[in-house]
Amino acid sequence: MNMNYKRTLVTCALPYANGPVHIGHLAGVYVPADIYVRYLRMKGEDVLFICGSDEHGVPITFTARKQGVSPQEIVDKYHCLIRDSFSRLGINFDIYSRTTSGVHHRNASEFFRKLYDEEKFITKETEQYFDPEAKVFLADRYISGTCPKCGNPGAYGDQCENCGSTLSPEELIDPKSALSGSIPRKVKTKHWYLPLDRYEPWLREWILERHKEWKVNVYGQCKSWLDGGLEPRAVSRDLDWGVPVPAEGAEGKVLYVWFDAPIGYISNTQELLPQSWKKWWMDPESRLVHFIGKDNIVFHCIVFPSMLKAYGDYILPDNVPANEFLNLEGDKISTSRNWAVWLHEYVDEFPGQEDVLRYVLCANAPETKDNDFTWKDFQQRNNSELVAIFGNFVNRAVVLTQKYFGGKVPRNLKPEAIDAETLARIPECRRNLEGYLDTFHFREALKEAMNIARIGNKYISDTEPWKVAKTDMDRCASILYTSLQICANLAIAFEPFTPFSAAKLRDILKVGVSAGFDYRAGEGAPTENFYTASEGSAIHTLASDGREEPGDIVLTWENLGERELLPAGHELGETVLLFAKIEDGVVEAQIAKLHATKAANESSDARERAYTVEPQKEMCTYDDFQKLDIRTATVLEAERVPNTDKLLKLTIDTGIDRRTIVSGIAEYYSPEQMLGKQICILANLQPRVIRGIESKGMILMAEQPDGKMRFITPQEVLADGSQIN
Ligand code: 2FM
Ligand code: ZN
Repeated sequence: MNMNYKRTLVTCALPYANGPVHIGHLAGVYVPADIYVRYLRMKGEDVLFICGSDEHGVPITFTARKQGVSPQEIVDKYHCLIRDSFSRLGINFDIYSRTTSGVHHRNASEFFRKLYDEEKFITKETEQYFDPEAKVFLADRYISGTCPKCGNPGAYGDQCENCGSTLSPEELIDPKSALSGSIPRKVKTKHWYLPLDRYEPWLREWILERHKEWKVNVYGQCKSWLDGGLEPRAVSRDLDWGVPVPAEGAEGKVLYVWFDAPIGYISNTQELLPQSWKKWWMDPESRLVHFIGKDNIVFHCIVFPSMLKAYGDYILPDNVPANEFLNLEGDKISTSRNWAVWLHEYVDEFPGQEDVLRYVLCANAPETKDNDFTWKDFQQRNNSELVAIFGNFVNRAVVLTQKYFGGKVPRNLKPEAIDAETLARIPECRRNLEGYLDTFHFREALKEAMNIARIGNKYISDTEPWKVAKTDMDRCASILYTSLQICANLAIAFEPFTPFSAAKLRDILKVGVSAGFDYRAGEGAPTENFYTASEGSAIHTLASDGREEPGDIVLTWENLGERELLPAGHELGETVLLFAKIEDGVVEAQIAKLHATKAANESSDARERAYTVEPQKEMCTYDDFQKLDIRTATVLEAERVPNTDKLLKLTIDTGIDRRTIVSGIAEYYSPEQMLGKQICILANLQPRVIRGIESKGMILMAEQPDGKMRFITPQEVLADGSQIN
C-alpha cells in the first residue's frame, strides 16, 4: 500500500445500464465501497467517490433489439433508475455519470488514439461470423445453435445456458444468426489488440511481488491468469453501438466495451473536476482503489493497469478489494430469470429501513467465498441484532435520561470502577475496527461496531438503572452518563455502516458529525455545500435532514473511544426508535414473491424446452392436414400386451365404431388409469399388426420436457367421434 498518500480515489464498478441493480451487486461492490468512503471521510481524509453507468456493449443492443427500442432508450431508462436507487440507499457518489456522455466519448477516443499513435497496439485480421441478411458482424452472443456438449438446440456462441459450458461460435452445431435466422458466413475483419503478453513480466513483478497484501481471492486469480500466460486482447469490435474507433480504416468499428468502461472512471472524474482531475489520477500521492465483483478482477488488475501503463502518466490501483458472489435463498442470482432482490423495489417496499439492508448485506458479505442471502436471516439480524441490541440499548439509555434527568446528560457524581472499565473497552473496539476497515474486512469491522452496542446493552442490563433510581440517584446518574457516552461512540462507529440510523442517533443526542472535505477546492469556483476551514479542507456537520449545525458538538472518527463526548448538562433531542421489528408476514410476502418467480420460470422453461426440443417439422399444406381424421374417443377396456413393458391393448369407442388400438403408453399409464378416459386418436391411420394384434389408429400423445408421454384429453367430456379440425 502507498503509505504516503494524501488522497484516495475510490471507484465502484460501473453497472451495465441494462437492468436494475440487485443485492448481489450491493453486497459485492457498492455497500463495502460506501462504508470505506464514509470511514475515510470521518477520519478527515480527502476522498473522491466515482461511479456511473456502463452503457455500451453487446448485451445492451441485445436487450434493445428484443424490446424493439433503441439502445439509447434502454440505457436512459436504467441509468436513471440505478442512479436514484443508489442514492436512496445512502450511496452518494460524488458523480454518477455515464459512458454515453460526450466527455467520455472524447476521452476514451483520445486514450485509444494516443496508444495508437505510439504504436502500442498490434492489429490482426481474423475471420468472424457475419450475418449476410442483416449485414452485420455477429458477436458470439448473437449466434445460436446446438451445444456440442449437451445437445441443447438453443445454445449461444459464447455459452450454453443448459450445461454451463463456455463455447466459441465455431463449436456450435448448425450455427444461426439470432438476428435474422440466416446461416452466418465467416468474413475477414481487422481489429486492434493490446499485446498483454508484453506487459506480463511487469505485471508479475507489480502484482505478485509488490501487492502481496491484496485479498487472497484477488491475488490468487491474478496469479492464475499470469501463470496461464497472457495473450493479446482485442480492444475493438464490429458493432454500431459504442465509441467509434478513431483510426483510419475503422468504419463500423467501436471500442470494445471493456476498453472504454474503465476509462469511464477517468472521464467521470474529468466531468466532475475539469480543472483538477489530474491531481487524482496522476499525482503519486493519490491512491486509487477499485471496488468490484470477482468477475471483473482480470479487467481491473491486468487489462486496465496495462492500459494505464501503456499510456503513461497515470497512477495504478493501490488495491482492488473484489468480493465473491451473493446467492439468494440458495440459488444463483439471475437478472434474466428475475431471481433477485432489486434495489429499487426494496427501497420502495421498505421505506425507512434502508439501513437494515445495508447492515445485513455487510454482515453477510461474500468477502472470501460466495454467500447466501435469505429473508429469514434478514429478519433475524434485524430483530435480534439491530432492534434487540443496538436499538434497545440506545432507547433504554435515552428514555431513562428523559425520565429521571429531564433529558439532560446527568452529572457523573460518583464515578465507579465498573464504568471506567466498561468505557475502557471501546478504544480496543476502535483499534480492531480500524484494522479491519483498513484491510477491507467489512464483516469483521461491523462485528466490532456491534460489539460496542453489545457492551452498552450488557452494561445497562447488568446495572439496572431503573431499579437503582429508586434508591440511589447519584449512582443512576453515573450509569446513564456512561451509557450516553457509549451511545455517542455508537453514533461515530455506525456512521459508515448504517448512516441513516447514525444520523437519527445524532439527532437524538443533538450532535453533529464531521465527514467532508471540499473536493472542488482546486476548481476555482466557490462551492455551495461546503465551507472552507483551515488549509483548504472543509468540515460540515450534518443532521439527518442535511441541515448544517456548526455550533453543536461535532464528532469525528478521532473521538471514537473517548469517555466524555457528551458533557454533563447537554440537552438531548427528541427520542425516536432507531429500528423497528420486522414481522413474519413481511418476510413471508417476500419469500412468496420469490416462489412465484420460481414457478413462472419453471413453466416458461418447460415451455421453452418443449418448444426447442424438436424443431418445427417441414411445412404441410392445408390439404395435407385435412387428410388426418382426428377424433375424440373413450377407452372401454385396457390390458397389457403379454411379454412387453410398453404396450397396452385398448378397446375404444370412436363414435363411429368400437376398435382396438395398441399403444406404447404402458410406461406412463397403467390399464386401470386408462379405463373410461376420453382421448384423441388419429382414426384413419393405416392398420398395423403389432404383436399379433391388429391396431387401427393411433392415440395422440404429448411428450413432456422430461421425456414422459401424456395423452391429450378434452377439457370437458365431448361426444365420442367429434372431429378435431
Ligand atoms: O460487470 C459489469 O457490470 C461491468 N459493467 C463493470 C464495468 S467496471 C468498469 F470497468 F467500468
Ligand atoms: Zn450444453
